[in-house]
Amino acid sequence: QRYENILTSRPDPGVALITLNRPKALNALSTAHFRDILSALNDADADEKVGAIVLTGSEKAFAAGADILEMKDKTYADAYGNNFLSNWEDLKKIRKPIIAAVSGYALGGGCELALSCDIILASPTAKFGQPEINLGVIPGGGGTQRLTRAVGKARAMELMLTGRMFNAQEAERWGVVAKVVEEGEGKVLEEAVGMAKAIASKGRLAVMATKEAVNAAYEMPLTEGLRFERRLFHGLFATNDQKEGMAAFAEKRKPNFTDS
Ligand code: HXC
Repeated sequence: QRYENILTSRPDPGVALITLNRPKALNALSTAHFRDILSALNDADADEKVGAIVLTGSEKAFAAGADILEMKDKTYADAYGNNFLSNWEDLKKIRKPIIAAVSGYALGGGCELALSCDIILASPTAKFGQPEINLGVIPGGGGTQRLTRAVGKARAMELMLTGRMFNAQEAERWGVVAKVVEEGEGKVLEEAVGMAKAIASKGRLAVMATKEAVNAAYEMPLTEGLRFERRLFHGLFATNDQKEGMAAFAEKRKPNFTDS
């Protein structure tokens, strides 16, 4: 293994699995840990065999936040001078879908890491939260923006001002997670890998275009977003996968997508 804080594997030829593996600190995201995650994500993104990525932790914790012990003595000059956490922006550069399979704690930076993924699946044991207020700070990995967009202002304020945890059922009701899977060890990962495999069997270019267009909904006014969507849609008529997908429908057979 190239990495100290994560495990990487291919549960299916089209699926890259990244497992956070710092059990002694409940997967708290130290600088080195986060660097490992980014590096593995970039490797998976660049590998043309991979169609979708799954990010997971342990049964006890997806990730319990940024590493508080590493952060506690930082000065303003360290934080501002070195632009602490600016590499979190790099998560946005991954073009293939990332599914977060969350069991146990997803707190602070752990919640923000899950929110940065494209789909969250949760075990009934999942506990989300932005407890930074209890540490005298605020979320720094996108929580004030992404959680607010996900749950709306009133709930976002309540969650981030009290720092309370919210459970898998609440997260599902509010649209933070796509689905709460049935109880049982390994179930959420199994379901995430199954979903990643299904996505990996679709046309790669259409999958990337979908991710790009949905994410544009968070950045653009509606008119621009609709235009952007339509232009991507037009562009897909230049792909083999569009010809194959529509021919397969007309011929009543399953498509075999080959573009990458
Ligand atoms: C460093 C951590 C940690 C963290 C847990 N540990 N969370 N170390 N940073 N965020 C370590 C503990 O120190 C302990 O180490 C071991 O993991 C097990 O944790 P316990 O607290 O003993 O476990 P438990 O009693 O089960 O409680 C679990 C918990 C609690 C509720 C998740 O650990 C907790 O409240 N953690 C902090 C959560 C948090 O505040 N996260 C936000 C961080 S700020 P030892 O050596 O004692 O066994 C943040 C800013 C975001 O994320 C910025 C963007 C990235």
